[in-house]
Amino acid sequence: MSQRETWATRAGFILAAVGSAVGLGNIWQFPFKTSEYGGATFLVVYLVAAIGIGLPAMLAEFVVGRKSNLNAIGAFEKLGFRNWKWVGVLGVGTGFWILSYYSVVGGWVLRYMGGSVTGAYFADPAAYFGQVSAGLDALALHALFMILVVAIVAGGVEDGIEKATKLMVPSIVVILGVLAVWVFTLPGASPGYSYFLSPDLSQLSLSVSFDPLPSFSGPLTDIIPFAVSQAFFSLSLGMGAMITYASYVGEDQSLFGDSITVVVFNSAVGILAGLVVIPLLFVQGIEPGSGGAGALFVSLATAFAELPAGRVVGVVFFGVVLIAALSSAISLLEVVVSYAVDNYGARRPQIAAALGGLIFLLGIPSALDTAWLGWFDTLAYQLLLPVSVLGVLVFIGWVFGRPAVDELLNGSSLGGGVGMTWLWLVRTVVVLGVVLTLALGVQTLFFAENPAIVPPL
Ligand code: PFF
Repeated sequence: MSQRETWATRAGFILAAVGSAVGLGNIWQFPFKTSEYGGATFLVVYLVAAIGIGLPAMLAEFVVGRKSNLNAIGAFEKLGFRNWKWVGVLGVGTGFWILSYYSVVGGWVLRYMGGSVTGAYFADPAAYFGQVSAGLDALALHALFMILVVAIVAGGVEDGIEKATKLMVPSIVVILGVLAVWVFTLPGASPGYSYFLSPDLSQLSLSVSFDPLPSFSGPLTDIIPFAVSQAFFSLSLGMGAMITYASYVGEDQSLFGDSITVVVFNSAVGILAGLVVIPLLFVQGIEPGSGGAGALFVSLATAFAELPAGRVVGVVFFGVVLIAALSSAISLLEVVVSYAVDNYGARRPQIAAALGGLIFLLGIPSALDTAWLGWFDTLAYQLLLPVSVLGVLVFIGWVFGRPAVDELLNGSSLGGGVGMTWLWLVRTVVVLGVVLTLALGVQTLFFAENPAIVPPL
């Protein structure tokens, strides 16, 4: 087994974890899912899920990673539980699945950088999105995005990932912040803020009937699985990424503090992106929910077309989104690469290229037709992410148990009471929350009038 690298600096891990978390999930997906699934109600469920489920689940992944000092698949075995290896395998598989279409959207971002330089999207932003989001062009840019990801991962943990992330984190906050302030000054933006920020409490309802299987109805039926899985997706949970990153962390570092930093930053960036995109949709008279996967691209392209220095702002904006997308995609590929390097002594560059190639192939349907992209995404949200996160939670809560608390508290000044509270929360409320999410997801996938599991053939 080759000697393992570790983070060069303590901030390296936090930055990389934030870099993994903050990405297209926050900037592209969060605003469009929020506008599609009820605005402020979605936001409420998302925030409750990020803090109440995401934070404890992230700590569980950190514990698995740091305790085992291994990649996501090897970790469970090393901790002495061979039978739980499937959780790692599922995580890696989920990461593979997600990266396949994540890279297609990364390709769109590349395309929009180019489009900002030439002003190609200025004339008709909606038609432009239709042209570039699917087809051979999208396929070529999907390939280019994957090549960039492979090149960074091939460089190794310190060289590639730490450097890329340091630059991205501050710039993304600044640029989104400036855009949000600018949007605030636009006429017609204000209904966007109430849609996004003031929840209609009557929407927070869910009923269940048994016949004899449970069947759910009410507004939360759709909102919960999308909002909870949005929290997982956006926090990079259920994909082995946080397990893998934490495996490079020293015992003297407080996992607690680090996880709070990641959750706060991640939610802040999502909300900031929402404050840009959602009011913009209203300014442009686009019905919330009708923007779909193009919401970010169309709304911002329209805005940049009107701004005096629109081309420059466009290049800078999409450039920063590209860095955010890359630093997240890197962490997905890193999961699989680190498994191959740890276990088979594989050479980093070769294995990164081979796996990148496979992921590219899996992404071909999504690049050719956005209906396929939506199908891949729905399956990830409704099934893969909740099952995968549930696996880690049950493992840590009910199988690994007490030793997890000791590991969690290493490097932290918190008392054992906090650790035990965390463990009991994981065992009960958190697990139940994910079970409910999964039940709702399964209902939409298999038992709805138009079951989502049917591929868009
Ligand atoms: N969290 C990233 C985002 O929100 O864009 C996406 C992601 C990265 C998901 C890494 C999963 C992962 F392992």
